[in-house]
Amino acid sequence: MEIIEKIERLKREKNAIILAHNYQIPDVQDVADYVGDSLGLSMKAAKTDADIIVFCGVLFMAETAKILSPQKTVLIPDRNAGCPMANMINAPQLRDLKSKHPRAKVLCYVNTTAEVKAECDLCCTSANAVRMVTDVLRDEREIIFAPDKYLADYVSRKTGRNFITWKGFCPTHVKILVEDILRQKSLHPEAEVVVHPECTPPVIEVADKVASTEGMCKYAGETRAKELIIGTETGILHRLRKENPDKVFYPASELAVCPNMKLTTLEKVLWSLEGMNYEVNVPEEVISRAKQSIQRMLG
Ligand code: 13P
Ligand code: SF4
Repeated sequence: MEIIEKIERLKREKNAIILAHNYQIPDVQDVADYVGDSLGLSMKAAKTDADIIVFCGVLFMAETAKILSPQKTVLIPDRNAGCPMANMINAPQLRDLKSKHPRAKVLCYVNTTAEVKAECDLCCTSANAVRMVTDVLRDEREIIFAPDKYLADYVSRKTGRNFITWKGFCPTHVKILVEDILRQKSLHPEAEVVVHPECTPPVIEVADKVASTEGMCKYAGETRAKELIIGTETGILHRLRKENPDKVFYPASELAVCPNMKLTTLEKVLWSLEGMNYEVNVPEEVISRAKQSIQRMLG
């Protein structure tokens, strides 16, 4: 309790805002001013009039906030909180791929480093990837979609478009097996299956709904189903249960835990505000190139 009071006081004194991803631990979600998915967090970071953003998530998300609001101080409470998928492609690798397909437009998942975003034409999140392909890239003949091969596969099935892909994936979402879903389904036959598009194709195949983490929260509130099997990182269950006390949520797999998302604790949020650490900086030249692809996505 004392920690929360200290955080609240420092937030007021320093004009800071706390943004948290849906996978953060319950204590961190509860102290945040806004909890959401990558898209919602980017939009919030772009619009806030706070001077300081404490970003409780992983590094690519904090970098995106910095790119959109370079005049603000962006802090990440644990600087080891990276995203293994984002680290599966670097700028030289993407440049090499581009050189093999010189006419292709590059659509990059927001789960990429700032340097990789600087090499892209357009950014997308799991919430808007389909729309980016059907609307913004409608007239393009060739599209490179990196780094998530499973998200690319999902978008390809939804749009009927083929992509030049990269071999990236989320190590947390691949832990969810179709056998896990089928087992949960046999235990809870009335339950609907809701999964993230980072899941593998066999998992997506058996789902009733595929959505970003924010899309899952929205769907859970709207569906008539009283029981839901959730195929994503288990941190989201806190928010789902809090917002829908009349419904029952089952994790598709207890193993779907992102260790990086769990690095942020309440204490680290406090230390971050006290010591103004760890500041996220992106070189100006990278910001100016990466910004275009993100702003094009935000419209
Ligand atoms: P969302 O944008 O759906 O929240 O997903 C982010 C992420 O890292 C999923 O693993
Ligand atoms: Fe990256 Fe997967 Fe963790 Fe999301 S859940 S931050 S994609 S490793």
